[in-house]
Amino acid sequence: MSTTISDPPYNYRVVRQFAVMTVVWGVIGMAMGVFIASQLVWPALNLELPWTGFGRLRPLHTSLVIFGFAGSAQFAASYYAVQRTCQARLFSDALAGFTFWGWQAVVAIMLVTLPLGLTTTKEYAEIEFSGAVLMGIVWIAYAVVFFGTVMRRRSRHIYVGNWFFGAFILVIAMLHIVNHLAIPVDWFKSYPVYSGATDAMVQWWYGHNAVGFFLTTGFLGMMYYFVPKQVDRPVYSYRLSIVHFWALITLYIWAGPHHLHYTALPDWAQTLGMVMSIILLAPSWGGMINGMMTLSGAWHKLRDDPILRFLVVSLAFYGMSTFEGPMMAIKTVNALSHYTDWTIGHVHAGALGWVAMITFGSLYHLIPKVYGRERMHSIGLIHAHFWLATIGTVLYIASMWVNGITQGLMWRATNEDGTLTYSFVEALEASHPGYIVRAVGGAFFLVGMLLMAYNTWRTVRHPATAPAGLRTSAA
Ligand code: HEM
Ligand code: HEM
Repeated sequence: MSTTISDPPYNYRVVRQFAVMTVVWGVIGMAMGVFIASQLVWPALNLELPWTGFGRLRPLHTSLVIFGFAGSAQFAASYYAVQRTCQARLFSDALAGFTFWGWQAVVAIMLVTLPLGLTTTKEYAEIEFSGAVLMGIVWIAYAVVFFGTVMRRRSRHIYVGNWFFGAFILVIAMLHIVNHLAIPVDWFKSYPVYSGATDAMVQWWYGHNAVGFFLTTGFLGMMYYFVPKQVDRPVYSYRLSIVHFWALITLYIWAGPHHLHYTALPDWAQTLGMVMSIILLAPSWGGMINGMMTLSGAWHKLRDDPILRFLVVSLAFYGMSTFEGPMMAIKTVNALSHYTDWTIGHVHAGALGWVAMITFGSLYHLIPKVYGRERMHSIGLIHAHFWLATIGTVLYIASMWVNGITQGLMWRATNEDGTLTYSFVEALEASHPGYIVRAVGGAFFLVGMLLMAYNTWRTVRHPATAPAGLRTSAA
């Protein structure tokens, strides 16, 4: 199926806008990551100002990379893929434009309010009431644009990638609204309607599914579109993709209590979370295998295609972090890992290895297409980016594993008389080398991101070779 000149051109304007902002928020959010990683090496970098301290900049880092970088990436990829797979222009250009400006406004609000200490204190849901309301409105507009486009599709069936994007949009709307139910006192102060253990459970039902849907399901939608496109092969098994979809969305929603092991949460809920997390390994690996096997017969392409390398290595890290997660959900393992840097290593195996790498691969595929260019300005720079990102990720997660296990073992060591063998400061001192390695790894990753920004800028500035969207074949 190929598009012809008479087909309505797709709305690539909003895709371009989100793609560029993915790169911009990626640079700012990751620079913030390197800065807070450096604060943990050199505490003097806290600068003794309230708004530059680790406590305020850490939630700023997580908000910028999750909502700015990963959020913009998913908007760009879903708007691009839904139009091409449905062979239909976006449902409404005006509403799509509103989602772009509205979402950037939300991230800008985070950028200003979090350093000022205006926060709900709920992790990944720190934005205060008025910002959260705007976020909800933008998200509902996103749902209207996305599902409206699916409804006006010209192909009979709905491609599986759109199922994943659709589930991501619906579930995030539900999580955001339920977790942000609060009584406002003024524009930037509110109190949650839940209290005690209920509040904690709602928060981690949200938190875990933010991981499951904001940092996984939308990116699986990306995988199902961009991996087959880049390899130029159909998805390995369509049947497996359907089983993968239903199993993943049915199981994820139950696993939240693994964040609350050994707390005031009822024991049965903790055990339920643990069991569901272990079962979750199966659909996660099913999806990973489906993506990997799509390369069957085309593995040789990895030798000189750095975009494909990004996509495949992201799947390897996805497999790794979704093996590690279920292990950490086992209560006895969690007794060692919880509160330690092991969790931070796990987070970034997923965040850098999976989320960021699949985003890089997808954007390198998409940017030339939406700007009507043959390819990115420099393939050499994509190769360099790939190695910087891979080495950076490995340094980050390996150092955090060493730190995490060291901390867990030192904290639990006791002498014969029952007293603690090590003080907290001794465990902190033992962690210092790991913090240096993590900061270096983060700097590698950031330099790769800067190369991408330069490459994108040069690609965008290059004169167009053909009108975007008319030359290329439909999905
Ligand atoms: C240059 C890259 C990055 C560096 C150097 C970096 C560094 C850091 C540091 C130092 C922390 C605080 C750890 C602590 O409290 O001990 C952190 C937390 C976090 N980062 Fe990053 N980060 C990077 C990229 C990313 C990306 C791309 C994402 C998501 C897409 C991400 C998501 C998170 C999350 C979710 C947390 C909170 C983890 C938790 O509470 O367990 N980071 N990061
Ligand atoms: C089958 C899949 C997965 C399971 C069962 C799982 C399980 C876990 C467990 C048990 C923890 C530690 C909770 C604690 O001790 O506090 C955790 C933390 C975390 N995981 Fe995963 N994980 C999975 C996949 C992923 C992926 C793919 C990502 C990222 C893209 C990710 C991001 C996170 C984050 C951000 C946290 C830190 C939450 C916080 O405390 O702030 N996880 N996960």
